[in-house]
Amino acid sequence: MNGLSEKLSAIKQEILDGMESLDSSKAVYEFKKTFLDSKNGKIGQLMKEMKNIPPAEKAEYGKNVNALKTWATEQFDEMDARMKEKELLLRYENEKIDISMPAQKIVPGNLHPITLIKNQLIDIFASMGFEVFEGAEIETDYYNFTALNTPQDHPARDMQDTFYLTQEFLLRTQTSAGQIHVMENTAPPIKILSPGRVFRSDDDATHSPMFSQMEGLVVDKGITLCDLKGMLDVLVQKIFGEGTTTRLRPSYFPFTEPSVEVDVSCFECGGKGCKLCKGTGWIEVLGAGVVNKKVLEVCGIDSDEYSGFAFGIGIERLAMLKYGINNIKLLFESDMRVLSQLNDD
Ligand code: PHE
Repeated sequence: MNGLSEKLSAIKQEILDGMESLDSSKAVYEFKKTFLDSKNGKIGQLMKEMKNIPPAEKAEYGKNVNALKTWATEQFDEMDARMKEKELLLRYENEKIDISMPAQKIVPGNLHPITLIKNQLIDIFASMGFEVFEGAEIETDYYNFTALNTPQDHPARDMQDTFYLTQEFLLRTQTSAGQIHVMENTAPPIKILSPGRVFRSDDDATHSPMFSQMEGLVVDKGITLCDLKGMLDVLVQKIFGEGTTTRLRPSYFPFTEPSVEVDVSCFECGGKGCKLCKGTGWIEVLGAGVVNKKVLEVCGIDSDEYSGFAFGIGIERLAMLKYGINNIKLLFESDMRVLSQLNDD
């Protein structure tokens, strides 16, 4: 037992001295370990010594070392609590939110005008019972032309300057290719809408090598041009406003007979004549017609029993009219200065 009380007093003093310079809970933890770690701590080692103490002195020895251990633990716990409190206050101070600071403006994303118009058209047609069929952008010559009554050497092929990938495959020039796929696979009644990108070697202010079309096809018993006209009137009123009317002009497409070009009464001037309608009071918006009997037959549909109409809308053209844009490229350049002005809200 000789010297134990000196040893304990020395440790006690060491703890008291050392604690004065501790400035964080982490430092308290580290300092505490040098005494209380059961293996390497100074008090821990004294506990381990127990086995070498003669039996008669064991009880006294144990009591004294334990007392020191309890005292030291209390010191450290108290110090630790004080440090944690201090650290918490510091954190509160540092993380304080200045609610008087101006907020950062959150600019939400928006759908592209072409997508907005496409969605609007899909909504209108879906409410009339049309289903959406999305075809492929790479088509065969057969689906894009031949089956649409436009065989090789047909002069109407010149109406669309085509990007051929091989002799057989091409980038579709019109969503009309989808008509054939649908009619081959579905028995009438058919009522589909086929939106998608199409490609033509054509490039100026109002034409782009890539643009979007929305094809519509209805096949059933007794469908006539009047059904087309009736549907178009509803469509243009929903897009351009209540008073809008349509006018059909004779035209030519190989896959429709008769074929028409559809004009809407100018929504800018109401038909009086202005810059937008070039003084005519009318604006051309789409091509359409009664499905050519030959096309029905090629798809295995009995043309004596069934008839249909089809139409194709150029979506960029519609967007240009709606937003008063005179260059189609503005719709593809993703320039925020332009796009932020074309917001529907
Ligand atoms: N496919 C034609 C074009 O791209 C448009 C059209 C579609 C015409 C359907 C009539 C019927 O010019």
